[in-house]
Amino acid sequence: MKFNRRKFIKRLIVAIASIEAFFLIKEGISKSDNSSGKKELFNAGKADSFETNKTYPFLTGHFFLKRYDDGGFLAMSIKCTHLGCVVNNNIKTGGFNCPCHASQFNKYGEVLSAPATRPLDTFPITIENGEIFIDTNKAVKRKEFNKSQLTYA
Ligand code: FES
Repeated sequence: MKFNRRKFIKRLIVAIASIEAFFLIKEGISKSDNSSGKKELFNAGKADSFETNKTYPFLTGHFFLKRYDDGGFLAMSIKCTHLGCVVNNNIKTGGFNCPCHASQFNKYGEVLSAPATRPLDTFPITIENGEIFIDTNKAVKRKEFNKSQLTYA
């Protein structure tokens, strides 16, 4: 087979142009994804509508919203910190149970029994004009519960 220099150069130019086009398209797509620069917050509703000592599941937002005795709110991820199964709200204890490997969490999301080793992640809450907004894009890992994690209306 005879080496054709002209053919080789043409193919090389097409290959370089294809690679460049790929990166331009990729960059364009990633820029358009963040074009608004705004984070979408989950509107959970009016703070007044939540009773104390109750857990409200928001499965589409992937969190439980809990209101404690003192009126403070905590939004906790529904994902078990062991391997990510969806935990169930334990109505009797106010805590959470994982159906996959039996981890248990107390009402603040702290581990009561393994294999999970850390509390349920939380999501930042902001309350504006009495409305509760949850930033479900920002799961916060924690070692334990403390009162500073609560948000008040
Ligand atoms: S995923 Fe929850 S205990 Fe394993």
